[in-house]
Amino acid sequence: MNFLGALPRRLLFERGGIEKLPEMLSELGSGDRCMLVTGRKFARSSGYLDKLKKLLASAGVEKVIIFDKVEPNPSAKIVDEGGKIAAEQEVDLMIGFGGGSALDTAKGIAVVATGGGSITEYFYPAEVKHPILPVIAIPTTCGTGSEVTRYAVISEAGRKNIVASDGMVPVAAILDAEVLNYLPRDILAHTAFDALSHAIESYFHVKSSDLTYMFSVEAIRMIFTNFMQAYDGNPDRREKLLYASMIAGLAINFSGAVIVHGLGYYLTEKYGIPHGLANALFLSQFIEYSSEKTPEILISLCGRLGISSDDPGECAKIIIGKLDELRRYAGLPLSLLEAGVPESEFERLVEEGLSYRRNVENCVAPPSREDVERIIRRAFGGSCA
Ligand SMILES: [Fe+2]
Repeated sequence: MNFLGALPRRLLFERGGIEKLPEMLSELGSGDRCMLVTGRKFARSSGYLDKLKKLLASAGVEKVIIFDKVEPNPSAKIVDEGGKIAAEQEVDLMIGFGGGSALDTAKGIAVVATGGGSITEYFYPAEVKHPILPVIAIPTTCGTGSEVTRYAVISEAGRKNIVASDGMVPVAAILDAEVLNYLPRDILAHTAFDALSHAIESYFHVKSSDLTYMFSVEAIRMIFTNFMQAYDGNPDRREKLLYASMIAGLAINFSGAVIVHGLGYYLTEKYGIPHGLANALFLSQFIEYSSEKTPEILISLCGRLGISSDDPGECAKIIIGKLDELRRYAGLPLSLLEAGVPESEFERLVEEGLSYRRNVENCVAPPSREDVERIIRRAFGGSCA
C-alpha cells in the first residue's frame, strides 16, 4: 500500500465553531489583510456575513475585502477578477464561506493572487508550483468536501476544469453544522449525492488504498443512514452529512473522482443541472458497470458496508436499490429523460464523457467507448435495479 497527500493544518468540527475563527487566525499566525469569498445572497441574508466581519475585527484583522461575486459553477473570469483584487490589495489570507463554488473560487483566487496570469493557465494538466495564499474554508453545504481537498473546479468555455496541487488544500477548515439549518432540502439532497459520488467513485480509483476505503465506506454508510431524516430537516442528521461529506472529500483527496463526474460535467455546463444531481444520474449505472468489470472490488465494498454476498450482481442490486430509495425520497429525477435531457444528446454525452480523460483513465477498469455508451444508454432509461 502507498499513498501521498496533504491535509489541512487545523480541522475544526463543532456546532457553533465559526465563533472560533479568531482563535484559528492567531494559531495560524496570518490574516492582517483578508479576502472573504462568498455568494451574493446567503451570507448576507443569514447574518453570517456580519458575524464573520465582527469576528475578523475582533481578531485584529486590519482590512477585510468582501468578494461576494461567487456563482454556481464558478467561472475563470470571476476567479481572475478576484485574483487581481487580492494581489492589488496585498491580501494575505483567503476565507471561503459557502458551498463548493465559494470554496473553489477562494482557492482559485489564492492561486492567481500569488502566481499571476489567469486561472486558465493552471488548469490540469498544468501544475500549480508556486506557494499560494492560505485559505480557511467554511462549508455551508454537505457535498463538496472542498474544505479538505487539493482541488478547485473552474468552468471555462463550457467545460469543467480542475486546478490541483497539494498546496491548495486549505490550511484550516471550520465545519459548523449550524449553518446547515439554513440549507434548502433540494440543495441538501443534491450535495449529499455529490458526497456519495465522491465516496463511491474513489473506491474504484487507481489511487484508492486502505486509507481511502476507510473514508469511502464510512461516508457511504453515514449518508445511507442519515439522508432521509437530514432531508426532513433533522439537525443532528444534517451534522452527520456534513461529516460524511468531509470524509468523502478526504477519500478523493488521496484518490479522485472517476467517470461519473466526467459524465456529469456536461449536464451541468449545458443544462445547468446541479453538480451532485448530475452525478446521481450516472451513479447506479456505474455500480452496474463495476459489477461486471471489477466484481471483486464491488464485493469488497459491499462486505465493508455489511452486505454479505459474494455475488456482484446481487451486491449491485442492493446498492442501486438504496440509491433509488434515497432519490425517490428527495424527489430527484431517476433518469436523464426525467431530468430533461433529450435522447438526441446521446452522442454528445459520449464524446464529452470520454473527453474528461483523467476521469476515464483513473478508473481501476477504464471504460471503453462501448462501455461509456452503455452507461449513458442505461442512464436515459433510469434505474438498473
Ligand atoms: Fe463532486
